[in-house]
Amino acid sequence: MSKVKIAVFVSGGGTNLQALIDAQRSGALHSGGIALVLSSNPNAYALERAKQAGIPTKVCSRKELGSQEEFEAAISAALSEHGIQVIVLAGFMSILSESFTCRWPQRILNVHPSLIPSFCGKGMYGLKVHEAALSKGVKVTGATVHFVNEIPDGGEIVLQKAVDVLPGDTPEILQKRVMEQAEWVLLPNAAELLCNQIIKGEN
Ligand code: GAR
Repeated sequence: MSKVKIAVFVSGGGTNLQALIDAQRSGALHSGGIALVLSSNPNAYALERAKQAGIPTKVCSRKELGSQEEFEAAISAALSEHGIQVIVLAGFMSILSESFTCRWPQRILNVHPSLIPSFCGKGMYGLKVHEAALSKGVKVTGATVHFVNEIPDGGEIVLQKAVDVLPGDTPEILQKRVMEQAEWVLLPNAAELLCNQIIKGEN
């Protein structure tokens, strides 16, 4: 049975991309294969990780492409060129419009560094999420992998994992713990789950 072709969308360091690459190497991710890494940022270190793993890369910068329509047209062209079936957003910091997301129902996964519906939605990304969790004083946070629809962080939840907040945590320390204990585990598991369902015709 051939593997489901995955595109991973990135914008920054790409540690979640690395977790997917490692899962592919170990066999934990075997129903899908990463066929493309697409970055909204030409300087993202994630591109280096992709190159080291021998995965084709593409840069689509919203700023350089001018309009949202041109940005999404360039993304769609790259996806068709590589025969992509599933998109994984792994720290992708550009917005995708409804006209894009509605063409990929149940086919776009996103990892978010909190337990949705807490600390999510428009403007909540990266360290800001952990700053908000610490200011609220929550004792437990975590990560969520969900399907992407037109509502920011509003699609169906696929997997979640809780992580303790500890005394003395800074946003940076908490971010690292959430990544290590939750994101890097959940994202490959969710990608495998979805790709396996697609192969079996269950999704
Ligand atoms: C991750 O913590 C991811 O959950 C978060 O950005 C970071 C990217 O790190 N995404 C969001 O906040 C999306 N709303 P990475 O580039 O090292 O994977």
